[in-house]
Amino acid sequence: MSSLKSLKWRYATQKFDAQKIIPEEKIDIIKQAFNLTPTSYGMQPVKLIVINNKPIQQKLFEYTYWQEQVRTASHLLVFCIETIIDDKFIEDSFKLEKKIRNTPDDIIEKSKNFRLELFRKWSTQEKQQWAINQLYLTLGNVLNTCAQECIDACPMEGFQAEKYDEYLELPAQNLKSKLILPIGYRAEDDFFANFKKVRRPLEEMVIDIK
Ligand SMILES: Cc1cc2nc3c(=O)[nH]c(=O)nc-3n(C[C@H](O)[C@H](O)[C@H](O)COP(=O)(O)O)c2cc1C
Repeated sequence: MSSLKSLKWRYATQKFDAQKIIPEEKIDIIKQAFNLTPTSYGMQPVKLIVINNKPIQQKLFEYTYWQEQVRTASHLLVFCIETIIDDKFIEDSFKLEKKIRNTPDDIIEKSKNFRLELFRKWSTQEKQQWAINQLYLTLGNVLNTCAQECIDACPMEGFQAEKYDEYLELPAQNLKSKLILPIGYRAEDDFFANFKKVRRPLEEMVIDIK
């Protein structure tokens, strides 16, 4: 599909066909799209949980204000931020760069010291907000990839994040859930599928400077 065609094809799916399961090779594409998303300093302070388990989805459905998508979806993606962005986290990202690119030590040292100093100045809340900003980018990228692969999805902020965190034991992994994305195939009777897109006129949305 062309990029515009797939953007017009997708919609925030309200009901999935629970019998249709996304093949593993497509799930792998989605995981890679998440991982290939660019992030600030390339530090990837994010993690994706991929749930393909109906009893767990049923439980999380309760923590999502009983929104049908969560339990009818083939898979439920939970987008998380890392809660501990400390010196070690920063140093590990440079170790990875060294391993993959073999960047010279003097260059690594310079930018590592700059980054360590910068992040030490930030409060925990500022670092978590920075991580959330990166997380929304991953959501956009995964959402578009789903559309290109003809997989339906519904981006969602409307869930009880603290309940998700507790149930999925996220604090023990230094993670917090911030967004969810049920994915699958639209149910034949999801009447939202035929709704026209509501968007402000393009002239109101874009300023051209020539
Ligand atoms: C960050 C974000 C959070 C959203 N949260 C919810 C939600 O909790 N429940 C829901 O049904 N739709 C949710 N939506 C879907 C939007 O309402 C929908 O994307 C928007 O109305 C545009 O419609 P379209 O996606 O069908 O083009 C969310 C969308 C985004 C981008």
